[in-house]
Amino acid sequence: MNKPLKQHLIDPEICIRCYTCEMTCPVGAIEHDDNNVVVDATKCNFCMDCIPVCPTGSIDEWRVVETPYSLEQQYEFEELPDQQEIETAAPSEGSDEVADPIAALLAEAHQGAGGKARAPISAAKAAVNMYNLGKPARMTVQGNYRLTDDPDHDVRHIILDPGALPFPVLEGQSVGIIPPGKDAEGNAHLPRLYSISSPRDGERPGYHNISLTVKREDGGLASNYLCNLAQGDTVNVTGPFGATFLMPNDTKARLLMICTGTGSAPMRAFTMQRQRSNATAQMTMFFGARTPDSLPYFGPLKKIPEAQMKQHLVFSRTGDKEYVQDRMVAEEEAVADLLADENTYIYICGLKGMEEGVELALTSISESIGQQWTALRDVMREEGRYHVETY
Ligand code: A2P
Repeated sequence: MNKPLKQHLIDPEICIRCYTCEMTCPVGAIEHDDNNVVVDATKCNFCMDCIPVCPTGSIDEWRVVETPYSLEQQYEFEELPDQQEIETAAPSEGSDEVADPIAALLAEAHQGAGGKARAPISAAKAAVNMYNLGKPARMTVQGNYRLTDDPDHDVRHIILDPGALPFPVLEGQSVGIIPPGKDAEGNAHLPRLYSISSPRDGERPGYHNISLTVKREDGGLASNYLCNLAQGDTVNVTGPFGATFLMPNDTKARLLMICTGTGSAPMRAFTMQRQRSNATAQMTMFFGARTPDSLPYFGPLKKIPEAQMKQHLVFSRTGDKEYVQDRMVAEEEAVADLLADENTYIYICGLKGMEEGVELALTSISESIGQQWTALRDVMREEGRYHVETY
């Protein structure tokens, strides 16, 4: 019998195929085919560099195995295999061997990991990975609308029509966009990830289409390609991806949404879906942008009644420089009330940089109600009530 080994794997159901891990791995242990992203057990040295860069946590998976799963096996995974039962010889009396070496290996593998992301219990089941690099969905552009008046800040609302192709989506999922052409080495470009900003049944109820919220980045290959699309153009799309950053179907659930810039895309989808359902609980949003002119969906947001959503739109480049986390602290009582409620679901989406500030704000707000934030966060994550997607 082989000595049990710890193996690093990636959860194909949760992975959004952004390939950041592959680009980060210093020893080239991560690779992909048209379908999956996988880890070569002969190369992975557990340096953990890939763990913090993963936007979904799908990278943080470990199994103890006698024979590591091969690359070929991992490419075939549709979901991760369960931990196998592994027979271990009981340590001989008086030996100082660890009583349960497998548990010890797994515990070691999970050191420092923040717990596994889970979908809300009442979320609908997401379809994932229906279209891939080898077989993308070809969608037609139905519209491309500018959302921002700020001349230096071009953010677009782009509507894509899959036509007769089945493309079921849930709010919070992402798609990959394959920019046309080849890179400097002559390889096809990898897809770039965008959150879907429309609800499950389309831009208008019953319409089979999806929308994206795209900011034009200086020199950005995919963002410039998308922002320049005209009605009738066609686009190669992979996905849908993501099975945890989903909204609860429970109409009594309270949603606390914290976002910056285009991180508002999933929040728009959540909000529209709640408006179309008979949801009763009020939503709360902290949304940070530079100015009102650069805040995507500013007009439509202003029309949402306060009974449906309490909005905190904060601006970093008008008068007082204010970030979402500053306003959260200023609204300590309201946020604490949400944190204390088991019906509350937190969603954080936007700039990676805001994560630290938001965590600090949540730490101090939790303390105000005698709770330790990291403990509360672990419980919320375990219950599918805490979700972060930053980039
Ligand atoms: P600023 O760039 O003025 O410092 P956009 O993507 O449209 O530029 O919006 C991002 C918003 O998030 C901006 O208002 C930006 O402010 C703000 N921001 C930048 N860094 C952080 C941070 N560390 N925490 C919270 N918000 C941030």
